[in-house]
Amino acid sequence: MGISTTRIETETVPGEAIVQERSAKPCALVIFGATGDLAKRKLIPALYNLMKEGHLPEHFELVGIGRSSPDEAAFRQMHHEATAKFSRTKPLDEEVWKKLESKIHYVQGDHESPETFTALNAKLDELDRDRGTQKNRIFFFSTLPSAFPVILSGLKNAGLLHPADPRGPFSRVMIEKPFGRDLTSARELNKMAAGFVSEDQLYRIDHYLGKETVQNILVLRFGNSLFEPLWNRNYVDHVQITASEELGMEGRGRFYDETGALRDIVQNHLLEVLTLAAMEPPVSFKADEIRNEKSQVLRSIRPIYPHEVAENVVRGQYRGYRDEPHVAKDSKTATYVACRFMIDNWRWHGVPFYLRAGKRLKKRLTEVAIHFRAVPLCLFGRDEVCQRLEQNVLVLRIQPDEGIEFSFMCKQPGDDLYVSNVKMDFSYARAFARPAPEAYERLFLDTMRGDQTLFARHDGVEEAWALCTPILEAWEKDGDIPLYQYEPGTEGPEQADDLPRATRNRWRPIG
Ligand code: BG6
Repeated sequence: MGISTTRIETETVPGEAIVQERSAKPCALVIFGATGDLAKRKLIPALYNLMKEGHLPEHFELVGIGRSSPDEAAFRQMHHEATAKFSRTKPLDEEVWKKLESKIHYVQGDHESPETFTALNAKLDELDRDRGTQKNRIFFFSTLPSAFPVILSGLKNAGLLHPADPRGPFSRVMIEKPFGRDLTSARELNKMAAGFVSEDQLYRIDHYLGKETVQNILVLRFGNSLFEPLWNRNYVDHVQITASEELGMEGRGRFYDETGALRDIVQNHLLEVLTLAAMEPPVSFKADEIRNEKSQVLRSIRPIYPHEVAENVVRGQYRGYRDEPHVAKDSKTATYVACRFMIDNWRWHGVPFYLRAGKRLKKRLTEVAIHFRAVPLCLFGRDEVCQRLEQNVLVLRIQPDEGIEFSFMCKQPGDDLYVSNVKMDFSYARAFARPAPEAYERLFLDTMRGDQTLFARHDGVEEAWALCTPILEAWEKDGDIPLYQYEPGTEGPEQADDLPRATRNRWRPIG
């Protein structure tokens, strides 16, 4: 049955913000690994766009630490070119770039060596004195996690990490995933970091939380009286969360072969999305109130024990993966994973949450699909004619083509009672003239404001690992759990269809 689409006309009603955002404080941002790929593709372009939109504080300075640029001029030049290429807004506004560039400094050095930290200390003192950064510092670790302890101790020894004090200047640390490889290493990492900084100084990035559409999950649920009464096991049949990527390794074979889809996407991005879709309303939108509720969801997810892995998790690898550069010829790394989680609480008891993520699939698409319960079979039956109706589905399109769609049943015009599926469609691009900022823009700004809502807390990270570690262990130990091959450009291994089929459902098509 074809689906016809109805466009929703949207009108944004201007009004005063009920809660004013805290303003971003003067500060120096120090990026370790500032000559790397992430800095070029995401970090500096995000700062450029923040500057362009007037969001950076007046007294903002950036210090890059790296090895490969010989001096400040080369460092600035490298980022000029990279920002022109990777910024979400194009072409590069040279005036804005010049203004940002005048705030970019570079310390060439190795984070292993104490001299780097002495030079950094001197640079930060100079910026406090001459540029008004007021001793407020943000340290961003865009390095391998193995470098975290040495950087933290270098900062501490140089006297650059002062304890959290709401009245004094701040030292905040932003760290990139992965936070560990399993539960044990994540606990060790958290313990190590706690030896240097307190939890309210630590900003663990999951860039999915910086996406507008991910943040909108809570607004949709709790800002509309229509949805919340239906958002439970009485009305929801099951939920599908998909993160499908068209791209493959893109030069990251070495990292990916050690990581795989479960560690790379499910443990962090997809479980974060699941918690937002499933959590109870928080008492307020304060960082810890939200993170408490998210943590409750993770703690309510029924663990999948090693002997249940084959039944609840399907893994796959795309054909040709083993020929990618830096990938082992006999690699057993999963580039696709699909799993079924059950949440044992009153709201969700008995409602399966199906998650899937994969590389080299048909299309780039991330979405959350809430499938509502079907109406009684044959409600519209007459004599021998009985039409099975499709479920209502509410789809939150995280990316691309960001938006929300709702499919529902409608009588087809005509003499006969014929029911067909139609779709209402809301698109961010059509409704709002202003394009959505990149995740890192929001995450930088929130760190400058001291707002941890969109950052992972230590307990949440460990709980997510507690769910994924038994699956990883089963895959390692049990040679009988299959790793299915799939063709690039498809929807993944067909064996993954068995998961929703067990409850008479099927995956939504990818593309
Ligand atoms: C990263 C993963 O965290 O997220 C990558 O390491 C993945 O493998 C990326 O490609 C996807 O992010 P986005 O924002 O493009 O969905």
